[in-house]
Amino acid sequence: QTKMIIDADTGIDDAIAILYGLKSPKIQMEGITTVFGNIAVEQATENTLRIVKLAGRENEVPVSEGASRPLTRELLGFSTHVHGENGIGDVELPATSQKKIDGPAADFIIRKAEELRGELVIVAMGRLTNIAHALQKDPTLPSKVKHLYIMGGAVNVPGNVTPVSEANIWGDPEAADLVIQSGMAITLVGLDVTMKTMLRQSHLDSLQRLSKPENLPIADFMNRSMQYYFDFYREVNAFRECAPMHDPLTVLIAVEPGVVRTQSMHLSVECEGKHCVGMTVADQRRKPSVGSPVQVCVDVDADQAIDLLLEVFI
Ligand code: BDR
Ligand code: CA
Repeated sequence: QTKMIIDADTGIDDAIAILYGLKSPKIQMEGITTVFGNIAVEQATENTLRIVKLAGRENEVPVSEGASRPLTRELLGFSTHVHGENGIGDVELPATSQKKIDGPAADFIIRKAEELRGELVIVAMGRLTNIAHALQKDPTLPSKVKHLYIMGGAVNVPGNVTPVSEANIWGDPEAADLVIQSGMAITLVGLDVTMKTMLRQSHLDSLQRLSKPENLPIADFMNRSMQYYFDFYREVNAFRECAPMHDPLTVLIAVEPGVVRTQSMHLSVECEGKHCVGMTVADQRRKPSVGSPVQVCVDVDADQAIDLLLEVFI
């Protein structure tokens, strides 16, 4: 089993990614840390606690709250137009008795990395602020973490908040660059592959038909919260009854690396400038000299990815 921490700004696709992480027999979830992004961090924490209960894991998986704002710059607002006022498509999930553990999340990450020396895999699905805080507090972290999977960036494709920037990187570019230059083993799961990995209404319909009785509440939650996501993607991208599985694909790749093709690239994040703040800049010249080498996902078998993702809920 892969020993994993998920770091999330628990919106709609984060919620599905966490549910996958909690249900997959290949993953041992060591904890979930939360960060601002799609919504305020307090809401991300509340959503996460309720999702843990929905997965039938109440009081089993620690939830630790992290950053409420970027590393150095001002907080610019949230993505409630994408994920709903409460971040999970305005679906009201049952409350839980579980409480968050004492924070901040950066300390939890440092503690777990120390305890699991060389075995911990981190999947970051929001701004990279918590990981950056952890690196500032413990510069030896890169040698203790097995691998960091980052949902973020747009290397050879357009951005989704600006012409060139993806939301998780754009929302805290200084944190993202600090993490990417840290020397940690990193795979970048960007819009290059996530925008190809579409969940359709027909998938959700089959899920509701095929789920075991104990997974029906999960299928029902996914179906209801995804309606909000579909509406957003219909309006902005003219997609019909389908939406990209950014965060779920990232967790999936940590245990099913065969669904993507990666390429090593020297990467850095643009932190200044008028049009390019938050851009993931890959030095794809023959002799790259700008940035640090990371594995960048360049292609995905989307059908296989969606099948593997849904399998754990059936
Ligand atoms: C990323 O931004 C958030 O809205 C999603 O949860 C995902 O992590 C996609 O750009
Ligand atoms: Ca996210």
